[in-house]
Amino acid sequence: MKAPPRLQSLIEEGLIDTVVRQLMSGKEAMVYVVRCGDETRCAKIYKEANNRSFRQAVDYTENRKVKNSRSARAMAKGSKFGRQEQEAAWQSAEVDALYRLAAAGVRVPQPYNFHDGVLLMELVTDAHGDAAPRLNDVSFTPEDARTHHATLVAEVVRMLCAGVVHGDLSEFNILLAHLPGTEGEEVGHDGPVIIDLPQAVDAAGNNHAQRMLLRDVANLRDFFGQFAPELRTTQYGPEIWSLYQSGLLSNETPLTGIYAPTHADVDMQAVLREIDDARDEDAARRLRMAAG
Ligand SMILES: Nc1ncnc2c1ncn2[C@@H]1O[C@H](COP(=O)(O)OP(=O)(O)OP(=O)(O)O)[C@@H](O)[C@H]1O
Ligand SMILES: [Mg+2]
Repeated sequence: MKAPPRLQSLIEEGLIDTVVRQLMSGKEAMVYVVRCGDETRCAKIYKEANNRSFRQAVDYTENRKVKNSRSARAMAKGSKFGRQEQEAAWQSAEVDALYRLAAAGVRVPQPYNFHDGVLLMELVTDAHGDAAPRLNDVSFTPEDARTHHATLVAEVVRMLCAGVVHGDLSEFNILLAHLPGTEGEEVGHDGPVIIDLPQAVDAAGNNHAQRMLLRDVANLRDFFGQFAPELRTTQYGPEIWSLYQSGLLSNETPLTGIYAPTHADVDMQAVLREIDDARDEDAARRLRMAAG
C-alpha cells in the first residue's frame, strides 16, 4: 500500500522498507504492518494529544514524573514547548515500559526503534504468521481460561516487581500469540502477550497505582470468569497489592486468590479518626456530667 505520510521519514531513514497494510486505528494510535528487510514488523503511530481522550491526558499529566525541571515547568505552564515535551514524554513512556518489561521477562512485543512519534516493534503473530487476535476475539475452554488467567496474574506480579503497573490491562490489550516451543516442546503453544503501555505508571511513586492494579486484575478475573466461573470469586488483586506493600512480593511468591486483610492493611487514617471521635464523645459526656 501507499505509505502514510507519518511513516515517510522512517522509510527515508531505512528503518522501514514497505508498508504492507493498516492493522488498526485505535483511540490513541494507528497500527501498520511493515516490512524491514526480510522481517515483518509493526509500526504504531501515535495520534496527537488533542486527538486523544481527555481522561488519559489528565491521568497522564497527574502521574508523570518529569526528571528535567525545565520540562516540568514548561508542562505546568502549558506552553508550546511544554505541550511538545508532554507529547514526547507520553510517547516515550510506552517504549520505556516495553524495554523495562522485556528485561524483566514479561511477554511484551520486542521494541526495535522509536522515531518521529512512531514505535517500531515485533509483530505478535498467530500460528499462521498473521497478526495475533486480541483475547476479546477468542473464546476459551474452562481449562485454557484457567491457564491463561494464571499466566497473566503471574505477569502482573512480574510487572509489579519491576515497578510497573499497566493501568489499561484488559482483553482488548492482550494478544493471543503463537509462541515458539520451549525446551522439550516440539510445536509451541498459544500464550498471552501484553500490549499498549503508554499509560503505564510507576508502582511506587504514583497515587493511582493501587487503584489501577486492582482494576487490571479485576478485568482479567471478569474476562476469564466468563469461561471458568470459579475464577469470579478470586481476589488476586488485593492479595498481590497487600504482599507488594508489605515488601513480601517476588516472582516466586505463591498466591492463593484468597485475601484476608491483615494489620498492615488497616487504614491508619480511619483508625486515628475513630480515636479522635471517641475522645470527643468522651469529653462531651464529661461536660454533660459536670453540668448536670
Ligand atoms: N505488536 C503488535 N503485534 C500485533 N498486533 C498489534 C501489535 N500492537 C498493536 N497491535 C494491534 O493494534 C491494536 C491497537 O494497538 P494498541 O492497543 O497498542 O493501540 P491503541 O491506540 O491504544 O488502541 P485501542 O484504543 O484500540 O486500545 C491492538 O488491539 C492490536 O490488535
Ligand atoms: Mg489498545
